[in-house]
Amino acid sequence: MIDVQSVTMLYGSFAALSGVSFQAHQGEILGLLGPNGAGKTTVMRILTTYLYPSSGTAKVGGIDILKNPIEVRRRIGYLPETAPLYLDMLVDEYLRFVGEARGIRGRNLENRLGWLREVLGIESIWKHGLSEISKGYRQRVGLAQALIHDPSVLILDEPTSGLDPLQIIGIRALIKSLAKDKTVIFSTHILPEVEALADRITIIHEGQIVAQGTQQELARQVWEKGETKEPLTLENIFISLLMPKKVRHPERSEGSHEILRPQGGLE
Ligand SMILES: Nc1ncnc2c1ncn2[C@@H]1O[C@H](COP(=O)(O)OP(=O)(O)OP(=O)(O)O)[C@@H](O)[C@H]1O
Ligand SMILES: [Mg+2]
Repeated sequence: MIDVQSVTMLYGSFAALSGVSFQAHQGEILGLLGPNGAGKTTVMRILTTYLYPSSGTAKVGGIDILKNPIEVRRRIGYLPETAPLYLDMLVDEYLRFVGEARGIRGRNLENRLGWLREVLGIESIWKHGLSEISKGYRQRVGLAQALIHDPSVLILDEPTSGLDPLQIIGIRALIKSLAKDKTVIFSTHILPEVEALADRITIIHEGQIVAQGTQQELARQVWEKGETKEPLTLENIFISLLMPKKVRHPERSEGSHEILRPQGGLE
């Protein structure tokens, strides 16, 4: 289980995160949804102890990220925004190296490598150099390094980025099957990705949590606030939650109609 408690992250005077709190439970896939620059990667870097928060803390499997970061890292499989690959290594060398660094040896390591080769469809590039393989294959090898030690917590920053449609379907199915006995958090700004994968959604915008819940719960929140009359698709929910403020059109005079304006980039 993951428990994030009032996390604030300051870069100078700029707050990348302000008082962020949320939980993710075992057996659950939590989708961290937000536009570019919302703070998704920053949350993940804090959870994986790559960054320390300015204030607040978080627990991973009951272990505090500030008090025992090494133990937290052991439990986590992390796919960062850019897959962490050593480009002068071959695919098999690299995954063997990561497995050994994670303390896996002998038969266990061979079994894990065999499984990863199959479920991630990387047999054909197994002996290729990491600098030669395509972006989609780099992403798959990145996922393999996150899974090699069978972690209880998976943190995936835009896991299907760069994959072709068939691979996206395959990787989603893999994540779903893995989630049965793990806690999974993935980030995205792509709405169909959340609909396909997430049991619950945490929406983040400008470093703050805007809403959380299942898609139905988010729909109810929007409906009760009367913020949209449109059909409650995830797209309309997202737009209603992210741009609730009515702003005046700069070219219109006082008292003229109010219009809605988007407040962040969205694909
Ligand atoms: N090292 C840094 N120094 C200053 N500002 C930073 C730094 N890292 C991130 N930020 C800022 O913090 C905010 C959140 O960034 P973050 O990378 O977490 O967003 P994101 O939701 O992952 O966006 P994207 O969808 O584009 O990946 C952004 O405004 C970003 O410019
Ligand atoms: Mg990011």
